[in-house]
Amino acid sequence: MKKFPTDFIWGSATSSYQIEGAAQADGKGPSIWDAFSHIPGRVQGNEHGDVACDHYHRMKDDVQMMKALGLQAYRFSISWPRILPDGTTKQINQAGIEFYNQLIDELLANGIEPWVTLYHWDLPLALDMEKDGWLNKDIATYFADYARVCYQYFGDRVKNWITINEPWVIAMLGYGQGIFAPGRVSNREPYLAGHHIILAHAKAVKVYREEFAHQGGKIGITNNCDWREPLTDSVLDKTAAQRALEFFLAWFADPVYLGHYPETMVERLGDRLPRFTDEEIAEVKGSSDFFGLNHYTTMLASDAGGELLQGGVYGNGGLSEDQDVNLHVDPTWEKTSMGWAIVPWGCQKLLEWIHHRYAGPAIVMTENGGAFPDEMKNGVVDDQDRLAYVRGYLGACHDAIENGVQLKGYMLWSLMDNFEWASGYAKRFGIHYVDFETLERTPKASALWYREVIERNGVEE
Ligand code: GAL
Repeated sequence: MKKFPTDFIWGSATSSYQIEGAAQADGKGPSIWDAFSHIPGRVQGNEHGDVACDHYHRMKDDVQMMKALGLQAYRFSISWPRILPDGTTKQINQAGIEFYNQLIDELLANGIEPWVTLYHWDLPLALDMEKDGWLNKDIATYFADYARVCYQYFGDRVKNWITINEPWVIAMLGYGQGIFAPGRVSNREPYLAGHHIILAHAKAVKVYREEFAHQGGKIGITNNCDWREPLTDSVLDKTAAQRALEFFLAWFADPVYLGHYPETMVERLGDRLPRFTDEEIAEVKGSSDFFGLNHYTTMLASDAGGELLQGGVYGNGGLSEDQDVNLHVDPTWEKTSMGWAIVPWGCQKLLEWIHHRYAGPAIVMTENGGAFPDEMKNGVVDDQDRLAYVRGYLGACHDAIENGVQLKGYMLWSLMDNFEWASGYAKRFGIHYVDFETLERTPKASALWYREVIERNGVEE
């Protein structure tokens, strides 16, 4: 049995647009995902989150489901336009406040610690249409104002805050490749949006630390990163793998932990990468109380020497061109139904890379999990593939901890099947199966197993 530290936090995660539904209920304003998902062709099967898991109306039952799982922490996100319909504090939607108040109370009454993400991609549509969303520096002020409202209403009970989920995805998939809302394609905008995301995060943290220190909570940002393993032992490939990690994770983590962008990005991007003023970087540096990490997969990296292979996974939208790295997967690796390779040792290497680069920060794995082709047979979903995935990755987390990594918690993605962005409902990540006709939830084999993991505070070898 691989045992975890006694104070290790076991959780599971979701996000507002992916589960809540009630897209137009009780005064909620539209988000960029409401708009984007209704454009024909943007989401597989033209699906959308209008109803999703209908968590908005089934919240109490869902908390009981978490309790039955023995969950210690639940990571969810607040829908910004459910609280501020046009994104600004001009109007505060009390029904939205009420919903999250009830959710938080319900969690605490059942012994589950809320971990709240302020931004998991559902930007108020008005801010995008009228203010250019993440492309406008003013977004930092709008975000900090929204964050203040959340601290005011919920901070007496919420002690774990995550400002922004996955800056890389927002910037690269939303503004580079255009496959996520707001669907823009550019090789300049991702770096501008990314810059404003960092500033917005820092401003929201400043508000928390200056005005709400008495609430005594922790606040940080969650980045996502795959592991990049050099394809060969050559210096060129090793440098390419390193460069790929810098263009992925260090892009956002270096400013926060080291006070500047990675040198490789500065050199290669020229004036496409904005600069921080001294005042800004003083706010950014040291602005995370913990290192939130979402991790799913690994790819092999090789130096492209200016010649990118066609059909690479990230071969459009500027990113691969900018880092000049070719990415492949080893054909012998097993894959999830997202096509993501299952490589637990990559998880351990990434955790150790973070540990060394950022001088041993407290890390929280805020997402990890897998989509698999689940089938309900006689009321049972026997997802041994997902169970094996999580067991493998938890083993890797454990081994990283043995090597000194300060990993404090693990949140399985996801509590239940939900709206998987551009893939719609076709990709199931949940440890609870959701029948999207009846909306009934059923624990999969992985849920029953995860309950035991939590209970034993350990995972079998
Ligand atoms: C993350 C994201 C989640 C979920 C997951 C699986 O990037 O934060 O919302 O979709 O990936 O793809």
